[in-house]
Amino acid sequence: MATDVHELPNRLIDPFGRQVTYVRMSVTDRCDFRCVYCMSERMTFIPRAQLLTLEEMATLGQAFTELGVRKLRITGGEPLVRRNVLSLFQQLGPLPGLEELTLTTNGSQLERLAGPLRDAGVRRINISLDSLDPRRFRRITRIGDLNKVLRGIEAALTAGFDRIKLNTVAIRDRGDEEVLGLLDFVLARGMDITFIEQMPTGTDADAPSPQSFLPSDEILELLRTRYAVVATDETTGGPARYYRIPGQASRVGFISPRSHSFCEGCNRVRVTTEGQLLLCLGQDHAVDLKQVLRAYPGDLNRLKQTIVQAMKIKPKGHDFNQARQGVAFRHMSSTGG
Ligand code: GTP
Ligand code: 5AD
Ligand code: SF4
Repeated sequence: MATDVHELPNRLIDPFGRQVTYVRMSVTDRCDFRCVYCMSERMTFIPRAQLLTLEEMATLGQAFTELGVRKLRITGGEPLVRRNVLSLFQQLGPLPGLEELTLTTNGSQLERLAGPLRDAGVRRINISLDSLDPRRFRRITRIGDLNKVLRGIEAALTAGFDRIKLNTVAIRDRGDEEVLGLLDFVLARGMDITFIEQMPTGTDADAPSPQSFLPSDEILELLRTRYAVVATDETTGGPARYYRIPGQASRVGFISPRSHSFCEGCNRVRVTTEGQLLLCLGQDHAVDLKQVLRAYPGDLNRLKQTIVQAMKIKPKGHDFNQARQGVAFRHMSSTGG
C-alpha cells in the first residue's frame, strides 16, 4: 500500500535540530587511482548487479529534493568512470528545489567530460590533487598520471565553470615548498583550494600512519610565511572554513574534522553506491534504501518516509579522534568521502 502523503514533512531534521540540505551520492566504488589514504593496493570492488542503477539514483535525488535537500554532490570512487554518468547529471539537474548539482573528481576524465558536465548544468567542481610533482603524485595515487589530471584541470578552466576547487589531503611528510607550490598554482588560475585533514579510514597496512597527520593550523602558519591570509565567514555549504588573500580571486579553505570539529553544524548525509544511506561519514549508522527502492518500485512516498525516519539515527558526530584512529573501518572510496 502506498504511504499517505499527508504524513510526510518537507524537511529533514535530526534529533539535534540539524536540517539535512546536502546529499553526497556515490555512483561507483571504482577508481582509476589507488590513493594511499583512500584505497588498498588490491581492492575488491562491489559486483555491478549490487549497484544502484542511475535511474534509481535519480529517484533518490527526487525524493531528497522533495524533502528540502538543495545540494547534491556526485562522488565515487571516481564518479566519472561510471558508464553513462552524464545521464544522471542530466536527470538530476532540473529537479525543483535543487540549488546546486556538483561533483568531486580526481580529474582524470575531465579532458573528455568537463565540457559536457558544464553543459549539463554543473557550475562548480572539486578536483582532488595532492602534488604537482609527477613522482610524488604517482606515489600517493599508486597508479595515477599527473599529466592527465593537469590536462583535465585545463579542460575544466576552458569549460567555464564558475569555480573550480582543488582538494589537497594534508600529509606531514610533504615539503613546505610543495604546499606553497599548490597555492601558487591555484592563485595563478583563479581557482580555490582546500586543505583536508587526513581521516583514519580503510584497513590497509600501507595506509599513512597516524604520525603523518598534519593539522590545518600548521598549514595556515606556513601559508602565512608568504601571504597575508585573512579569515572570512564565506561558506560553500560544506565543512570548509575559508580564508582570502587580499587582491586574489582564490579562496583558501581548511577542512579540519580532527582539530576543529564541525559536526554540530552538519547538514549532510551520504548514499553509497549500493544504496545505503549513511548518516555520518565517521560512524556506522545506515539505512538500506536499495531494499525500499526494489521492494516498492514507484512508491516515492515510502522512500521519502524511510529517509525521514532515518534522520532519527543520525549521530551527533564522528569518532575519528577516538577508538577508531588508525583501526579497521570502511575505505573512503566506499563512502565517497
Ligand atoms: P564544497 O561544496 O566545495 O564545500 O565541498 P565539500 O567540502 O562539501 O565536498 P568535497 O567532496 O570537496 O569534500 C572534501 C572533504 O571533506 C572530503 O575529504 C570529505 O570526506 C570531507 N567531508 C565532507 N563532509 C564531511 C563530513 O561531514 N565529515 C567529515 N569528517 N568530513 C567531511
Ligand atoms: N582523509 C581525508 N580526505 C580524504 N579523501 C579521500 N580519503 C581521505 C582521507 N582518508 C578525500 C579525497 C577527495 C575527497 C572526496 O576525499 O582526496 O578530495
Ligand atoms: Fe580515487 Fe579519490 Fe580515492 Fe583517490 S581519493 S583513490 S582519486 S576515490
